[in-house]
Amino acid sequence: MADQETKTSVEQHIQNNIKGETWEVVHYLAMALKADNEGKTEVAYTLRSIAMDEAAHGARFKYLAGEIGDLKDEIEKMLAGEEKAYEGKHEGMKEAEASGQKEVASFFDTAAHDEGRHAAMLRNLLERYC
Ligand SMILES: [Fe+2]
Ligand SMILES: [Fe+2]
Repeated sequence: MADQETKTSVEQHIQNNIKGETWEVVHYLAMALKADNEGKTEVAYTLRSIAMDEAAHGARFKYLAGEIGDLKDEIEKMLAGEEKAYEGKHEGMKEAEASGQKEVASFFDTAAHDEGRHAAMLRNLLERYC
């Protein structure tokens, strides 16, 4: 019983850390964008450096939790997600355009293209290596 509780507790700590580190990556990178916009380049650089550490922490916890399966399966799963993300961002762009939010619409468009590019990159990996 004690072993089971310890195991559950460690697993919970790992899951909490995956969530926490994931949130931190995005938050630090958003802070870095703000710093860039304010001309504070060194602040932005430092925040990005921390974000990369947090990303590495989250990735290691996810790996340790055994959440990464067969690489081909993982790539196929991520490809489906990127395709869905492309569609979702395209929808977001149309809604932002319709409500007159030009900057948001423009970024949805840019990000949608990125998702499409990610999908193409993953397809390429599947064709060449998997
Ligand atoms: Fe961390
Ligand atoms: Fe993506």
